[in-house]
Amino acid sequence: MKETSSIAFVPIYFLLTLLLSIPFLLFLSYCSSITTKNPERFSSETSLGLKIRPGYKTYESYIQRQLNKTLNLKLREIWRTRDWDRKIQVFTRFFGELKQKKLLSNDSKALSIGARMGQEVEALKRVGVSDSIGMDLVPSPPLVVEGDFHNQPFEDGTFDFEFSNVFDHALYPEKFVGEIERTMKPGGVCVLHVSVNKRADKYSANDLYSVEPLKKLFKRSNLVHVRTVDGFGLDTEVAFRKKKAI
Ligand SMILES: C[S@@+](CC[C@H](N)C(=O)[O-])C[C@H]1O[C@@H](n2cnc3c(N)ncnc32)[C@H](O)[C@@H]1O
Repeated sequence: MKETSSIAFVPIYFLLTLLLSIPFLLFLSYCSSITTKNPERFSSETSLGLKIRPGYKTYESYIQRQLNKTLNLKLREIWRTRDWDRKIQVFTRFFGELKQKKLLSNDSKALSIGARMGQEVEALKRVGVSDSIGMDLVPSPPLVVEGDFHNQPFEDGTFDFEFSNVFDHALYPEKFVGEIERTMKPGGVCVLHVSVNKRADKYSANDLYSVEPLKKLFKRSNLVHVRTVDGFGLDTEVAFRKKKAI
């Protein structure tokens, strides 16, 4: 009798182990499917100090979310009226300081990435950088042309200076930075305004917890400076210069 019950125990024990391991096996296969389908995204999520927000199931849903805000008619009216001068004043001060530091000059060909209505482009022009243009998913003529910062519509080596305060909207930070380094001339300067101490808004696609990930992402550039700023909720300015010879 004793022998019979221990023999019966073996298949039950085996079945139980099998059942308990199914969730674990499913989890392992889910992880490996993420890495295979989207290796770039996975590497961003795991880099220290930079997290891609979950919830964007497709690229289209990410773009649609960005457009929902930028195309909002009531908001566009506010940005065009109440916000217009106030934002230009703040951007004018930032670009004036960058000119003093010799990171920007009247001869610079400048691009502002994610420029929305174009206040930052207007500010660049007002400080004397006349060859300036903005780019956004939604064009705003004559200051801002249409373009996705993951795939900029410009030739290699076009700009002397690129500015952006929308790094937190990048779903693919490697592409965001890769495109900046592609379209900048050797010796060109990129200035980003980012938030490392506060969480950015609900339309952001990533969260940055230090400037270290930026230093890693700018593979073809040298760090020029990191300084504290107060720019529409963004607290840190990071400047890079593209290396002349790679
Ligand atoms: C927080 S707003 C900043 C607007 C502007 N820089 C300012 O300070 O007034 C973010 C902007 O990034 C744009 N944007 C988001 N994703 C983008 C993408 N993939 N390519 C280009 N622009 C994008 C949005 O359309 C929006 O205008």
